[in-house]
Amino acid sequence: MPLVPLNEVYAKANEGRYAIGAFNISNLEFCQAVVESCDELQSPAIIAASSSAIKYAGVDNLVALVRTGAEKTKAPIALHLDHGASFEQAKMCIEAGFTSVMIDGSHEEFEENIRVTREVADYAHKHNVTVEAELGRLGGIEDEVNVDERDAFLTDPDQAVEFVAKSGCDALAVAVGTSHGAYKFKTEAKLDIDRIKVIKDKVGITLVLHGASGVPASLVDKINKYGGQMKDAKGVPDAAYAAAIANGINKVNIDTDLRLAFTGALRELFAEEPKVFDPRKIIGAGRAAVKAVVQEKMKLFGSAGKA
Ligand code: G3H
Ligand code: 13P
Ligand code: ZN
Repeated sequence: MPLVPLNEVYAKANEGRYAIGAFNISNLEFCQAVVESCDELQSPAIIAASSSAIKYAGVDNLVALVRTGAEKTKAPIALHLDHGASFEQAKMCIEAGFTSVMIDGSHEEFEENIRVTREVADYAHKHNVTVEAELGRLGGIEDEVNVDERDAFLTDPDQAVEFVAKSGCDALAVAVGTSHGAYKFKTEAKLDIDRIKVIKDKVGITLVLHGASGVPASLVDKINKYGGQMKDAKGVPDAAYAAAIANGINKVNIDTDLRLAFTGALRELFAEEPKVFDPRKIIGAGRAAVKAVVQEKMKLFGSAGKA
């Protein structure tokens, strides 16, 4: 089917207490891995492109890839701008065919974050495009950080109420202890699940968990086994997804786990099959590994079977 905006997808996820995976892509193989997974598991999905992905692949190439893939399946797929940097960038993506955009004003003052989100929401909604905003700063909750310091970064529930009412966003990314990349926690993983619940009870709309990769030991170990160097990489455990989703998260962003799977598969192939030099065999091994991770997440997040 054609690419979809997310209002209906979010409403169903909210109602059914499950989450949609948002998977970052920058090339054909990652796009295929997600689209084929949607088809095989009958799952909705969000295909996300960051500013760097757009710079790398070209906005027109990405739209063409994702649109073509989505049209081959009956499952709902959205093309989403991840961490949009400005109104102009969001507008450019909407004009190019994106069906959802994030405007990330989390580094701005509260009032400026509201203003820029409102500007994007007014434009996006006229074009039937869904809007995600972010309030709070992502970063791990470390043991040595005291409660006041930690709270200053995490999303404040009362501010969230005011923010959602004034900005008009459809989904809100919250800071609850996760961070981007492969090194999220120094010791055991900590997510502020109570905060998710309090925010959800107050705002009701879709809440988004960024920096949500699990960084599973199996993926990291494979990279290290075949010559990579990823010491002490640590992510979000599976049990934390269940708790976060049960308490109000409806969109879970995954990039790092896909990168880890792809890298491990290529390292293994180069080491085990040194005679191979056909790029389709090389990158194809990466695609299969990415697809396995996407499918695992769809099952964990509860979106499998919900298309
Ligand atoms: O949230 C950030 C995403 O992982 C995108 O990363 O800017 O390297 O594409 P990137
Ligand atoms: P990870 O780095 O944990 O995969 O987070 C991705 C993300 O939040 C994209 O917006
Ligand atoms: Zn993010």
